[in-house]
Amino acid sequence: MTIAYLNGDYAPLADVRISPMDRGFLFGDGVYEVIPCYDGSMVALQYHLERLHQSLEGIALSQPESDAQLTSILSEVVARNGAGNLGIYLQITRGVVAKREHAFPEHPLPTIFAYAFDISPPSDGSPETASCFRAVTRRDQRWGRCHIKSTALLGNVLHMMEAVEEDAEEVLLFNDQDELTEAAACNVFVVCGDTIVTPELDHQKLPGVTRRQCLELLETHTDWTVEIRPVSRDEVLSASEIWLSSSTKELAPVVSVDGKPVNEGRPGARWSAAQKLFQQHRFSRP
Ligand SMILES: Cc1ncc(COP(=O)(O)O)c(C=O)c1O
Repeated sequence: MTIAYLNGDYAPLADVRISPMDRGFLFGDGVYEVIPCYDGSMVALQYHLERLHQSLEGIALSQPESDAQLTSILSEVVARNGAGNLGIYLQITRGVVAKREHAFPEHPLPTIFAYAFDISPPSDGSPETASCFRAVTRRDQRWGRCHIKSTALLGNVLHMMEAVEEDAEEVLLFNDQDELTEAAACNVFVVCGDTIVTPELDHQKLPGVTRRQCLELLETHTDWTVEIRPVSRDEVLSASEIWLSSSTKELAPVVSVDGKPVNEGRPGARWSAAQKLFQQHRFSRP
């Protein structure tokens, strides 16, 4: 039985209720984090809290609890859900209002919700344990504030369905200049020749915690050339490897794009080495 937290109380998830007048429900007026946890230890919690601050700032909502209080809530959710391999979901919305009005209420009473779901431990970097993704490509049609980890994810959801409709698991998104932005629920790395490339951060991409960890791990533990710069569609389509990054997947290889195999349809050697670094060092970040 999953135990959730809502505004000060812990209860079975099935018993937790929010008002339909919550601005998270009415407008998607909220932000969230998903923090992976293995054997009861959360990964890169500090980085997730840092991004939460940025997201809250992005929607002009003051953080309703201190980092220490949030950490204690999250730790309690981990403990009450068995302290195993869990994704911890934390959502903060602008709270319940008496009347549905677009403008912010003067004195919001934010809603804080957290719950846990089971996750599989990530791959150890061997091809046999890889979760491989087939991807399609699309023009990025989301909004211009993708750097905010907002719960307003309809654009991402509709793009993900474009992948599902083509029997794929992710969608690689390109802006009007035909440059790679990210995927519906992941950041993206490509291997071009001997170089690992990932797009630079701006309002078109979420600043992924896993992207940040990956860049730090490659910098610290390899002598590989890594570039952060625009990535053209041609580079994506001719890449020898493509990786997706997200907190619950860490690095996952893309094995086909629009039905054409990448690296002959198998996880690549660079992916394997990079994912092994996660396996060894995933708890080395604050
Ligand atoms: C749109 C999008 N980009 C990137 C990511 C990866 O972010 P992180 O590595 O922090 O999980 C996510 C994760 O949910 C996402 O939804």
